[in-house]
Amino acid sequence: MDDTDTPTDMKPHDDQFWATIRREQFYLDPETTFLQGGSVGPSPKPVVDKVTESIKAFDSNPLKYQPLYHPMVREAREKLAAFIGTRPERIALVQNTTMGMSVPAQGLTWKAGGEILMSDQEYGAVNACWDYIAERYGLTVRRVEMPLEIRNKEQIIDTFKSGLSDKTQVMVFAHVYWSTGLAAPVKELIELGRDEGVWVIVDGAHATSMVPLKLDEWNPHFYMSSLHKWTLAPKGTGFLFVSDDAQPHVEPLILGGNARPNKDADASQFDMMGTRDQTPFIGLGTALDFQAEIGWEQIRAYCQGLAGYLKERIRRFKGCRILTPTDPEMSGFITTFTIEGADIQKIRQELWDDEHIETSAFTIKDIPVFRISTHFYNSREDINRMIREIERRL
Ligand SMILES: Cc1ncc(COP(=O)(O)O)c(C=O)c1O
Repeated sequence: MDDTDTPTDMKPHDDQFWATIRREQFYLDPETTFLQGGSVGPSPKPVVDKVTESIKAFDSNPLKYQPLYHPMVREAREKLAAFIGTRPERIALVQNTTMGMSVPAQGLTWKAGGEILMSDQEYGAVNACWDYIAERYGLTVRRVEMPLEIRNKEQIIDTFKSGLSDKTQVMVFAHVYWSTGLAAPVKELIELGRDEGVWVIVDGAHATSMVPLKLDEWNPHFYMSSLHKWTLAPKGTGFLFVSDDAQPHVEPLILGGNARPNKDADASQFDMMGTRDQTPFIGLGTALDFQAEIGWEQIRAYCQGLAGYLKERIRRFKGCRILTPTDPEMSGFITTFTIEGADIQKIRQELWDDEHIETSAFTIKDIPVFRISTHFYNSREDINRMIREIERRL
């Protein structure tokens, strides 16, 4: 089932419904308030159980189960493709965004003297990847300054526009920013890059399940994501989308059974290759089924509601500045904020040590911030608890 199968007249699930899901369908420790799923999310019980049972069955007779698991992985690829708006032949199953990003970075041909365009808010591993390519092939990384507080999508488009030059060879940007939770205008940015004739690479680490994806319609050259964050799939599951026109230009990193020099359009040649554990991708199929059954629209509506509630509540802190856009078109389920004068790192540590509230805190552009991730296993009570405990420490 994909997004469009969810009846639109379905009654929204109430808080009790979500509380039951969390209690009955997750192994989450009831003593922990987990507001950090943006790093790694907890898989629901049916996913964990499916993977565990599949491993046990496999190890009861490896050679019997190995061929039986191939069609299950194929099915998961098909479900995933439908969910992200593309065809199975355009996606590779990789372990994560980092691995997916390495395919175009290492597999395309770079000309010395060119420029790699990105913003100054890309993720650490993404920066490291492109710094490496720049140094190895004699390119320059041009990092345009993106304002921390974005009010409209034109600001982002203009930021990237300002960094384009006749030397630009590739544009790299996040769909949902790890730092502020900003959801970038991905369609317009892809158009911008394509119109300029540069490679367009989208870091979709946080976007899958947070924002509906329409990859065929948007058609970036490459789009990669981690499914162990918001899709709640087993750890080490991700995908790489490769457009038909990019496919013939990129060399696979690993040459396995389905690598073909004649480059017919099948992105599975960028899969992880060789003998490997297939059970995480079997679990991915279960994760997609589990959430489709609840209803993706219901999940998104509830999560948007939680993020809205959180923003409303934290505004009451004296000196609070919310860096995440308030427009739901430009934000998802990550909320980033600072509190003037507060020792945010110290509070984060105390929240964990004393209260078992898991949050994230870091400094961005010299501003210390909290980053709070809220998913459907969270509740308003989780948010209230966190707010109470922060307030006591201000
Ligand atoms: C924006 C962004 N890009 C890339 C990554 C890397 O993801 P992974 O470690 O799953 O490869 C992350 C991880 O948090 C991220 O937030």
